[in-house]
Amino acid sequence: MADKKFELTDLSSGKKTDLPVRSGTIGPDIIDVASINKDHGVFTFDPGFGVTAATESKITYIDGDAGVLLHRGYPIEQLAEKSSFMEVAYLLLNGELPDAAGLSGFTDSIRHHTMINESLLRFFNGFHHNAHPMAMVSAVVASMSAFYHDSMDINNPRHREIFAHRIIAKIPTIAAAAHKHSLGQPFVYPRNDLDYCANMLNMFYAVPCERYEVDPVAAQALDLLFILHADHEQNASTSTVRLAGSTGANPYAAISAGVAALWGPAHGGANEAVLAMLEQIGTVDNIPKYLAMAKDKSSHFRLMGFGHRVYKNFDPRAKIIRAACHKVLARLGRTDNPLFELALRLEEIALKDEYFVQRKLYPNVDFYSGVIYSALGIPRSMFTVMFAIARTVGWVAHWQEMISDPAMRIGRPRQLYTGSIQRDYVSVDKR
Ligand code: ACO
Repeated sequence: MADKKFELTDLSSGKKTDLPVRSGTIGPDIIDVASINKDHGVFTFDPGFGVTAATESKITYIDGDAGVLLHRGYPIEQLAEKSSFMEVAYLLLNGELPDAAGLSGFTDSIRHHTMINESLLRFFNGFHHNAHPMAMVSAVVASMSAFYHDSMDINNPRHREIFAHRIIAKIPTIAAAAHKHSLGQPFVYPRNDLDYCANMLNMFYAVPCERYEVDPVAAQALDLLFILHADHEQNASTSTVRLAGSTGANPYAAISAGVAALWGPAHGGANEAVLAMLEQIGTVDNIPKYLAMAKDKSSHFRLMGFGHRVYKNFDPRAKIIRAACHKVLARLGRTDNPLFELALRLEEIALKDEYFVQRKLYPNVDFYSGVIYSALGIPRSMFTVMFAIARTVGWVAHWQEMISDPAMRIGRPRQLYTGSIQRDYVSVDKR
């Protein structure tokens, strides 16, 4: 088949250039515009990177119109039903599902990196008791770069692997320490006899004065949420990790930048904002009033947990979480959950509303995740931290993919400058 080309014509000069068109394994073709500055002296303009591919990747594929999400080719529905978070983590990092020995070796390595340095633990005392946990997590993750000088050579594949296992193992410990600090309770050390999610719940809820048994239903629910949040190709936080990492910065600093980017309500902070919104709406009778506000461009109110840059159809993760809400609430004996009932009605009413239909605004992954986190007893301010724990796997996989690519260049966007043209300095007495 002949190579595809895209003809670019400068209508003022008549100069034509053939731009190469690149095809992935699936998905739309990509026009390679790298030569247009050399050939035409121009750049491209795409605020918010709505149509710009910044990289090649083999990790995750999304078809937003069809509501498809594949990790290394495997549909999210199959992974959610049959796999575990540790297996998905291995898959994202290594490209293939592990065999039994591979999975056990990986899980064992993660288990044996869960403790954090005692000095790092003391950092939490420097935070006020009401510090947002995302502030603590991003600061402490960045601080990890001060602890592992002997294994931070980004060009050494073994060092990269140690970093990957270390950060995936320690991020729940850091999150739990932030939670305990907010409560004023003693830190609970990780337990390596528990699996990833059970250990996390134990660090969250155990106290020295009582025996605590992890509820396996809760650990399983968390595992599912972690699978669903593990990766989502070039989203804002992953692109932030790539951009920070492209400078050669140490990987802990790059992950910390990702945590910061995730925090915003337009991204991972939406799960916290959804619950706040549902509480604000309060009852089904108030839904029309809040929908009217969401449609009113002069109001800053948006329907949180609705809409997505890529999905113009159901977010497949939202469908899975909605179904899981029914199961988890029933198994935890919490079927009477007014916020879940309200969320279901809100979705039903919004999906019939012309404004949402026309703009193809559907519930996203975070519309229902907060309902499960709440049922597990996780406080609202910790929701985005839970997302960060799961997404660390995706961030690490993308950072690894970028650093091991010999064609990697520093990320450096261009701009359309609309400021003053050159002018001469005027001394203060003459202004
Ligand atoms: N409520 C009301 N209107 C909305 C919403 C919403 N949640 N989302 C989008 N719209 C409207 C916009 O006002 C715009 O309308 P217009 O065409 O009349 O101007 C249109 O839909 C397109 O929206 P954009 O803002 O251009 O879409 P964009 O891709 O830039 O933003 C985003 C996507 C940030 C997710 C947006 O839908 C939003 O703010 N949603 C609420 C926050 C949220 O749930 N974020 C989580 C996303 S998933 C994740 O990161 C894990």
